[in-house]
Amino acid sequence: MKGLILVGGYGTRLRPLTLTVPKPLVEFGNRPMILHQIEALAAAGVTDIVLAVNYRPEVMVETLKKYEDEFGVSITFSVETEPLGTAGPLKLAESVLKKDNSPFFVLNSDVICDYPFKELADFHQAHGGKGTIVATKVDEPSKYGVIVHDIATPNLIDRFVEKPVEFVGNRINAGLYILNPEVIDLIDLKPTSIEKETFPILVEQKSLYSFDLEGYWMDVGQPKDFLSGTVLYLNSLSKRDPAKLAKGENIVGNVLVDPTAKISPTAKVGPDVVIGPNVVIGDGVRITRSVALSNSHIKDHALVKSTIIGWNSTVGKWARLEGVTVLGDDVEVKDEIYINGGKVLPHKSISVNVPKEAIIM
Ligand code: GDD
Repeated sequence: MKGLILVGGYGTRLRPLTLTVPKPLVEFGNRPMILHQIEALAAAGVTDIVLAVNYRPEVMVETLKKYEDEFGVSITFSVETEPLGTAGPLKLAESVLKKDNSPFFVLNSDVICDYPFKELADFHQAHGGKGTIVATKVDEPSKYGVIVHDIATPNLIDRFVEKPVEFVGNRINAGLYILNPEVIDLIDLKPTSIEKETFPILVEQKSLYSFDLEGYWMDVGQPKDFLSGTVLYLNSLSKRDPAKLAKGENIVGNVLVDPTAKISPTAKVGPDVVIGPNVVIGDGVRITRSVALSNSHIKDHALVKSTIIGWNSTVGKWARLEGVTVLGDDVEVKDEIYINGGKVLPHKSISVNVPKEAIIM
């Protein structure tokens, strides 16, 4: 089987992290985001994976090529000279996606869940239509593509509305599809939206179905959702593979710690925290619902809540960070500084308080 991951876009919503690292390589649960998807595709029997990119492919090629052997897959980079949207990249990768008659998976790169690719493929084969969209329910459907069903035929999609301005329903496109190769014949090699141009044709042909996702789902393409997604992911891990989570007197709830991290026994970590490689956490630190990326250092008695600490960054003694604060790469927060909802660009040093949401350039 084959799969294509839509990796393009500039990742602007996940700034400042994506100013130094392409979004698919930002670590989620201590692994590059895209590896979760590559691993799940490989586990479902996919052997050919196309990464459709238009942003810094050279860094990604270097990082991801080494996983080909680990997962037993061939990874091809399909590089666009201009952004081709969400459908154009399928046409560009036609030679791989049409290399046999089997259907292929398409994934939005920011989406995390317990990817049910095997069940999705079985469901798709059973209904005999040309495409299947994975569906999930959300409270705020207006930022997504909404799926409306045919009343007579369960799971047959009657209408697909991308980013509706009026409420049409709360079952949304989870950004995971399986499509038959002939769907590519509906797409031209130019910037095209699969949601706005291709899906409506398949709906018209009564050939687009939806598959209900079980369990958690989150588009982690922006900091607030990255943190909420981390909570959901850790909760899922606690059920699937509890041995991966940290244990100890100073660990509270679901916490993932890289074995190279050094945590003071007087620090209290969790719930819902991910600590990356070579992170150092000092005495009396309190950290909840946060992610500390590799080589960061949280000094003694700092308080960190709902924050992403970028690679190589330092949080000073008695500092307090909260309110979806995000530090880019190599940021220094001086001792006793308070940051509430600040987004701090790479290589900055912060020596005055940031009491409300702000971008620090
Ligand atoms: N290769 C490539 N080229 N990829 C692209 C391009 C492009 O020109 N433009 C966007 N992408 C990728 C993004 O990186 C992302 O993985 C995916 O396509 C969809 O991104 P957006 O177009 O930004 O859509 P969205 O995130 O606002 O909404 C999409 O995802 C929702 C689920 O989170 C839609 O598919 C919605 O229908 C869906 O509900």
